[in-house]
Amino acid sequence: MCGIVGYVGPNSAIDVVSEGLRRLEYRGYDSAGVALVGDTGLVTEKRAGKLANLAEAVTAAGGLREPRTGIGHTRWATHGAPTDRNAHPHVSVDGRTAIIHNGIIENFGQLRAELEATGIEFRSDTDTECVAHLLSAELAHVDDLAEAMRRVCRRLQGAFTLLAVHADAPGVVVGARRNSPLVAGVADGEYFLASDVAAFISHTREAIELGQDQVVEISAAGLKVTGFDGSPAEGVPFHVDWDASAAEKDGYEHFMLKEIAEQPRAVADTLRGRFDTSGQILLDEVRMSDQDFRDVDKVFIVACGTSYHAGMVAKYAIEHWVRLPCEVELASEFRYRDPVLDRSTLVIVISQSGETMDTLMALRHARNQKARVLAISNTVGSTIPRESDAVLYTRAGIEVAVASTKAFLTQLAACYLVGLHLAAVRGIKYADEVGAVVAELAAAPDKIAEVLAAMEPVRELARSMGTADRALFIGRHVGYPVALEGALKLKELAYMHAEGFAAGELKHGPISLIEAGTPVVVVVPSPRGRSLLHDKVVSNIQEVKARGATVIAIAEEGDAVVAPHVDHTVFTPRVPTLLAPLLTAVPLQVFACELAAAKGLDIDQPRNLAKSVTVE
Ligand code: F6R
Repeated sequence: MCGIVGYVGPNSAIDVVSEGLRRLEYRGYDSAGVALVGDTGLVTEKRAGKLANLAEAVTAAGGLREPRTGIGHTRWATHGAPTDRNAHPHVSVDGRTAIIHNGIIENFGQLRAELEATGIEFRSDTDTECVAHLLSAELAHVDDLAEAMRRVCRRLQGAFTLLAVHADAPGVVVGARRNSPLVAGVADGEYFLASDVAAFISHTREAIELGQDQVVEISAAGLKVTGFDGSPAEGVPFHVDWDASAAEKDGYEHFMLKEIAEQPRAVADTLRGRFDTSGQILLDEVRMSDQDFRDVDKVFIVACGTSYHAGMVAKYAIEHWVRLPCEVELASEFRYRDPVLDRSTLVIVISQSGETMDTLMALRHARNQKARVLAISNTVGSTIPRESDAVLYTRAGIEVAVASTKAFLTQLAACYLVGLHLAAVRGIKYADEVGAVVAELAAAPDKIAEVLAAMEPVRELARSMGTADRALFIGRHVGYPVALEGALKLKELAYMHAEGFAAGELKHGPISLIEAGTPVVVVVPSPRGRSLLHDKVVSNIQEVKARGATVIAIAEEGDAVVAPHVDHTVFTPRVPTLLAPLLTAVPLQVFACELAAAKGLDIDQPRNLAKSVTVE
């Protein structure tokens, strides 16, 4: 949510910053802007809309290729409409300090009133602008941008990553962070600051993770980190082990298509080397003993959006394998309803980005109540894993498309691993079943590849649905969260009203939505083993069919019962019921993606969204 990038070095800053912004555009695309400092002082350009608008403005300004120092911002609007005037950077009244910001300054109202009382006239509706004026005021007392930043940060409340440049300090960028992401990149004679490593991956893979409440200064002299109080501090160096091509489309028309296709590999990577046949798994970071896991008497899974849907699937697996009560909560609700937590509660937080503010706040609430927290995240070194007691990283690789696909499947895989780990540590009730699941999990990537290879009919179906204005998704058991996920994908990508329901709930109200031709996608459970569940879903299909719905079933291969009752069937390979979401989610991703493409919509950057939601 808002992408920021800063650069000092020998190259033209506009080139480096523009490339960084292109790679960060998925974090927000309401507006974009740059501030550059060179021999001729400070120059800024900013425009509402996508990066292309900024690029035009830069070209019109002569290319701005001389400055070697710069900062850039791509915005997801919080305070103030997405207009030119609210675009970042914001500049102090004297025109010498420029600032960009990701997050929300919660006490901006009070700070703004204070600044206005001194005669400053604000030129935007943002919470950010006050920081430019505060910095400028501090620079009247101290001749050091980093010290001015520390002084300002001590006055700010809320979540922020800030980058600043000053007309009198060519060759210096100062950054600060609290509750919002900021990493540094170090190359030979050049330094980078950014919301994530994607911004500078084509220049360096050597990165430094910055901590909470730290200020960082980059210049030709190097990189200097201090606390907000001025005390010396150090970032944590890490090596980025994916290469720049991971953040490129590699011949695919959209990142989402590439990421859907990468799912077999992403799931295989997430599982690789992680478990033995007893189900014992290796967590990446564990600050909990096996005894801590044995002492757990209740599990909460807390996440948002797609990650929440992965958590819903995990609940079924954990309760079944581990026999522990497990609740799933939306992170944005968790801490406000005063959940009952103590040191024997395990809270599993799931976050692709590792920076989602709702999830981070839920995590902190859980830890304040003495609960243990285990994070499942795709982003090494991000805030959520860092603040957790144990971490299992998904290895999806960078996910650029705003709508999550491969991250979801790898989250499912990681949730299964955690369930198996808990079962192994605490004693397995269904030892035979769990052993079989481990083997089936290992085979899942090939089965996902099989599903992907058979997607052409799903694409055709999606293209034929271009005129539908709504769709329902229903499922039971683990098919229910998959139905929710299918509906979410369709809403966010195709801007279609889509709702997911537990199939059994339809008759309690939502069935009134069905008219002749309403598309209903049904995630059908396996007919094997749990045939009662299958029978019930077949009944639900008949209920919607009787009211004129067009039914699309996602069913297990060999299911001969469903086909006569539905209009279209998409078959997926056989797997144990609990693992089925790894396969059944895939046609729904493809369906949403193709429908959005048929409508000519922006698949990678749907309107109003941002990838990493760092505000509550
Ligand atoms: C939907 C989607 C979002 C995210 C949600 C949580 O396609 O991507 O619903 O799943 O914003 O994000 P993370 O997992 O980064 O915490």
